[in-house]
Amino acid sequence: SVAFLNGEFVKLSEARISPLDRGFLFGDGVYEVIPAYAGKTVGLRPHLARLNNGLAALEITTGWDDAHWQQTIDGLLAQNPVGNWGVYIQVSRGADVTRFHAYPKDVSPTIFMFVFPIATPPSESPQTVKGLKVVSAEDLRWQRCHIKSTSLLGNVMHFQQAVTQGGNDTLLYDNQGNLTEFSSANVFVVQGNVISTPALDNHILPGITRLMLLDMLRKQNKYQVVEGAIGLQQARAADEIWLTSSSKEVSPVLKLDGRNVGDGLPGKVWQDVIALYGQQKY
Ligand code: PDD
Repeated sequence: SVAFLNGEFVKLSEARISPLDRGFLFGDGVYEVIPAYAGKTVGLRPHLARLNNGLAALEITTGWDDAHWQQTIDGLLAQNPVGNWGVYIQVSRGADVTRFHAYPKDVSPTIFMFVFPIATPPSESPQTVKGLKVVSAEDLRWQRCHIKSTSLLGNVMHFQQAVTQGGNDTLLYDNQGNLTEFSSANVFVVQGNVISTPALDNHILPGITRLMLLDMLRKQNKYQVVEGAIGLQQARAADEIWLTSSSKEVSPVLKLDGRNVGDGLPGKVWQDVIALYGQQKY
């Protein structure tokens, strides 16, 4: 496939960066994953807003405005076959030979993009959706989870906990027993007519799928929508649990720690809401 690196489109297999890149040495960078189905991106604007926020938090300046990002993303999609892609964007602080921890002056950021295949989203074939199995664990990541940092070791180790147990992701809770998010996605819980998700703070990533879903649900005004604390015990007793992310859209969770969620099938509310998401996601 074709990638983008520091101003040029290149074959992915030929893209090269310095081993002194601070993204490699320190995880000093931010990233985005933007879904694109048949050439159409989903949530481009909020994805770019989150990228800009992350860059500002890290004091990395690229000189790129949203129009430049959009052109480059469109260019990348045009250079690759039509399909369902996750557009991966990474900006790291750049290469610096001193390996001084603090931000070095006069380095130029490394800007890298490539596309990776993502599955057909649940909204395009809700009948054949594969429900997810998840395990739970205490959230042992850092206190800046709102930044979409490339320092993902905490997330990677939590995801591996699920894989080791034959699961698809790990549902994380804080030391009070309240849910934060999955290791690679946000969480929603349904009880009766109430759809809940943890409120945004420094313990969770402000997911774009989460944002778009909340917007749609509030406009539709059919369910009660709550952003607030959800205990793990509440999740165990819930009718439905959903996982949201750019690569998995809104996916039903059917097992938590080996036990059925609700009746162990994709729920009624999910079936209703996934149709809404499919109509409105672009
Ligand atoms: N993951 N929380 C975490 C920790 C995530 O890594 C992600 C996304 C989300 C969902 O955010 P969004 O809806 O904007 O994709 C929540 C991406 C897809 C990844 O790392 O591959």
